[in-house]
Amino acid sequence: MRTFRVGGAVRDALLGQPVNDTDWVVVGATPDAMIEAGYLPVGKDFPVFLHPQTREEYALARTERKSGRGYQGFTFHTSPDVTLEQDLARRDLTINAIAQAGDGALIDPYGGQQDLRAKVLRHVTDAFGEDPVRILRVARFAARFADFSVAPETLQLMRDMVHEGEADHLVPERVWQELARGLMEQRPSRMFEVLRACDALARILPEVDRLWGVPQRAEYHPEVDTGVHNMMVLDMAARLQAPLAVRFACLTHDLGKGTTPQQMLPKHIGHEQRSADLLKKLCNRLRVPNECRELADVVAREHGNIHRSGEFGGAAIVRLLERCDALRKPQRFEQILLACECDARGRLGMEERPYPQRERLLQALAAARSVDTAVIAEQAREHGLQGDQIGARIHQARVHAVDGLSLRA
Ligand code: CTP
Repeated sequence: MRTFRVGGAVRDALLGQPVNDTDWVVVGATPDAMIEAGYLPVGKDFPVFLHPQTREEYALARTERKSGRGYQGFTFHTSPDVTLEQDLARRDLTINAIAQAGDGALIDPYGGQQDLRAKVLRHVTDAFGEDPVRILRVARFAARFADFSVAPETLQLMRDMVHEGEADHLVPERVWQELARGLMEQRPSRMFEVLRACDALARILPEVDRLWGVPQRAEYHPEVDTGVHNMMVLDMAARLQAPLAVRFACLTHDLGKGTTPQQMLPKHIGHEQRSADLLKKLCNRLRVPNECRELADVVAREHGNIHRSGEFGGAAIVRLLERCDALRKPQRFEQILLACECDARGRLGMEERPYPQRERLLQALAAARSVDTAVIAEQAREHGLQGDQIGARIHQARVHAVDGLSLRA
């Protein structure tokens, strides 16, 4: 039996980038031989083993045959006579289909090194079409390797797959997993551009796809197009190294602009609530984790108010802080403000503008949190107040503390 390094580890080393996980392919072995050699089988369907010491993944060379729709519709064929070339042939991209032997020699039958040099994401063979997750993977790699292009024939194949309904049968968890990874790459907008270019975005995230072609008021949004704005916001989130929840909130903050009635355009009155409603459906469909969902919900509903908060007095600011649950969750509030900053700076020509709302609201929050609620509650009780009345006193004290800051713009 012979083992070869394969996939992302070989690709990233050739690109001079740090290698995280190393995957191995094993040729000329059977599952029994692997177990005998001390490897640990993982999963009952996949012929994959863990090395007893390094815990790296070793997969038996295999060919795949499609048996049904979607990610789960696979049968595997492994046998000691499956060759390395056959295994590489059924991988997704040429840049991921380079193997490396123990002595460092590269086995590259599909031109992966050439495509690395030319910066092209190209499918290896028609076997690409057997796995619709690859549509998402290509889009994610485009976001990571921002200067790579997708080969026209690969884009066409992806488009054909989408038109045959392949993107409609993706398992929600896999879609979320790939989207989440792509959002964390250096140029997340490229993932959505590629998904859009092959018509997959309309199948996977129709609420986002619908934003292109929707105008906004040019005095606030010189880029005008809502889809373009949305992508600028996302790339700003990447530039400001925002965490996943913030990037997801950026992606979804303006969903409601996609359903603004035609006669109201280019104004988007009430889009915040519509965004929140669409977001809920999207999150249920893709089973988005709670942390992302909750942050995105507050950002969708409150981003307009946060932008305008420079005009607010103490009472309005404290109400805003309360609606954002900022007093109980100050760290999450910082994330909300970061998403809003990305929104404000994700506009054409406004990328370098300061966002003073952020500092002002953080000061207001600090003042509101400095109010000693226990003392106020005690005093209120001494005056015979209870329940909501005590809450109102605390609220008043917070308003007073914020007013004392003279925060008005
Ligand atoms: N692979 C594939 N099709 C998939 C998933 C994986 O062909 N749907 C192959 C590719 O050869 C890939 C390898 O399996 O390089 C390992 O997959 P994985 O670890 O998921 O990705 P990497 O390419 O290593 O990339 P990343 O850096 O994102 O982990």
